[in-house]
Amino acid sequence: MAENTAPPAELPAFAAVIVAAGKGLRVGGDVPKQYRQWRGRTLLRHSAQTLADAGADPLVVVVAEGMRAETESALEGIGRYNLVTGGATRQASVCAGIDALDHDPSGFVLIHDAARPDLPVAVISRLLNALERHPGAIPVLPVVDSVAIAGTDLASGADVMGDRADRETLRRVQTPQAFRLSDIREAHRAWNADIEASDDAQVFRAAGKTVALVDGDERLKKVTFAEDLMDNTPLPAFRIGQGFDVHRLERGEELWLCGVRLDSDFGLSGHSDADVALHAITDAILGAIGDGDIGTHFPPGDAKWAGARSGQFLEHAVELARAAGYRPGNIDLTIICEAPKIGPHRPAMREEVARLAGLPVDAVSVKATTTEKLGFTGRGEGIAAQAIVALQSAP
Ligand code: CTP
Ligand code: MG
Repeated sequence: MAENTAPPAELPAFAAVIVAAGKGLRVGGDVPKQYRQWRGRTLLRHSAQTLADAGADPLVVVVAEGMRAETESALEGIGRYNLVTGGATRQASVCAGIDALDHDPSGFVLIHDAARPDLPVAVISRLLNALERHPGAIPVLPVVDSVAIAGTDLASGADVMGDRADRETLRRVQTPQAFRLSDIREAHRAWNADIEASDDAQVFRAAGKTVALVDGDERLKKVTFAEDLMDNTPLPAFRIGQGFDVHRLERGEELWLCGVRLDSDFGLSGHSDADVALHAITDAILGAIGDGDIGTHFPPGDAKWAGARSGQFLEHAVELARAAGYRPGNIDLTIICEAPKIGPHRPAMREEVARLAGLPVDAVSVKATTTEKLGFTGRGEGIAAQAIVALQSAP
């Protein structure tokens, strides 16, 4: 019986290895399937993002020789990950990945195929939960069709039905597969190299270890043939995102709002140019495509962004939206401050935001309000901004 326990509120610590060093021969084409687009992003990016967001640390991505630059561009903006060169077989690639892990040998590791882009967090949770009680765990699904063992007719050489197989005892096996690092390393070392292992659980079981079965998910289907890349789920026509940001006002800082520099004794402090309005718009776009926030893409701790023009952030978010199949439709921004007066600068602000977002000016609204001298904005300690952005699908 597959285990299907409720997910714990918080996932235990775990590492992950994504194998993405295959050639994708069955899909065909010049570019291996893990670098092809699927639902607006490369196949590889989907599960890498899910595992990174679920807290995989370290996250190792195993890629073919010569594919580093391609991979870095596919994974741009995904926190920390290590790239490792894979081998000629899936198993060789897995071994390269687990050898590169230097975290606690008794720690949990999930091994996942890049070819399975749609990874539900509930499956990760079930696997890690099962590992608390079992040495290994894999997601499985029942077989719904009747099954038969294929045989050959000796006289004609034709394929014929052989003995019946009992589907009740059969399961379809998916990834991620979950183990403790030292156990799975040992199991791969002990495996007979003449036999090609199609997954890690069979290697693990051959080493005498128990593998628990948890409920898999149809969404985890492996992209194998060209038609699997043709996703029939249409993109929604519109997506909406909202963003909110606050920066502190300080004497002597420059004051930038909507990419326009305002004359003022006080300006906003922050790591970049602290343009609170552009930050809110950037976050709204990232929110609409569900791709993290401004801190994920431009970490404040990264010296690269010190003093950066926030216009770059907005342009980059628009690029990410394009890659996801969308373009901005309209932007509605509210700046919340007691001073300066926004009205006189509104035309310049709308024009600059429109230029950065690639929109006509009439699709950009810049509004302002005070908070009636109440709160931090009322006391002039800071400026807040909130934005709502509609994206429209642009296949
Ligand atoms: N894989 C790998 N290294 C290999 C072979 C496969 O890292 N030498 C990875 C693939 O990139 C994929 C996963 O293992 O994410 C499952 O393999 P499969 O679906 O068979 O992918 P490919 O081997 O690339 O495809 P094909 O068999 O059609 O050539
Ligand atoms: Mg293969």
